[in-house]
Amino acid sequence: MEVVVKENYDEISKLAAQMIADLIRKKKNAVLGLATGSTPLGTYKELVRMHKEEGLDFSGIITFNLDEYVGLPPLHPESYRYFMNTNLFDQINVKKENTNVPDGNAEDQDLSCQEYEDKIKKMGGLDIQLLGIGGNGHIAFNEPGSSLSSRTRTKTLTEKTRQDNARFFNNDITLVPKYAVTMGIGTIMDAGEIILLANGTNKADAVAQAVEGPVSSHCPASALQSHKMVTMIFDKEAASKLKDHYPTDPVRNKKV
Ligand code: F6R
Repeated sequence: MEVVVKENYDEISKLAAQMIADLIRKKKNAVLGLATGSTPLGTYKELVRMHKEEGLDFSGIITFNLDEYVGLPPLHPESYRYFMNTNLFDQINVKKENTNVPDGNAEDQDLSCQEYEDKIKKMGGLDIQLLGIGGNGHIAFNEPGSSLSSRTRTKTLTEKTRQDNARFFNNDITLVPKYAVTMGIGTIMDAGEIILLANGTNKADAVAQAVEGPVSSHCPASALQSHKMVTMIFDKEAASKLKDHYPTDPVRNKKV
């Protein structure tokens, strides 16, 4: 596990985008695991810039998103499919048919979740998974108490998560869906590489628990401590409750 602490949100976004771009340049048909929420927006903006200004080619990549609300139509402005189309897919040259978001409207949720797992496997597994972290330590919608070996399934969202996300629903918690389909912690842990991003003081407690606390389902992100290749990139505020000191660059960026 590598932890790096950057000056600000712009720097964490650029580093994450650079790591993803490096992979895509090396492996044209890379399988990317993607996240929604406010944290990865800067990363997506930078990837779009790289596409437009540097010709970064997404035509061979395959993507799988972490999660989707249950019951929102795909065209609902707060659905994660809509979020991904607007903030990334519509602005790069990825083939739409190669982008996957869990189906929050499937008639048979269990079957649909199994099919999602099967498709990830069929595509060769996730090469890299981008993650944010919830204020309660969740990754994807694996809320505290989730099994560390869980797979894609439907989960009930906690009150804390619904409150945190009410800002996207006119600050009206009654409009926030109660359930979501989410990759499991086991699904995420199978990715070849993981990048976890966090910024802002409201993430400081969760980050401290995830990095320096015990591995526990109480803080789902703590499971990442046992992943073989995870880079956690924080801004100073998100890192403010960490006790140890961490470098500003991952080893891969060191000039020798
Ligand atoms: C989103 C996701 C969530 C978010 C987390 C942080 O696909 O899986 O776990 O990463 O809730 O959300 P933001 O970035 O909005 O603070």
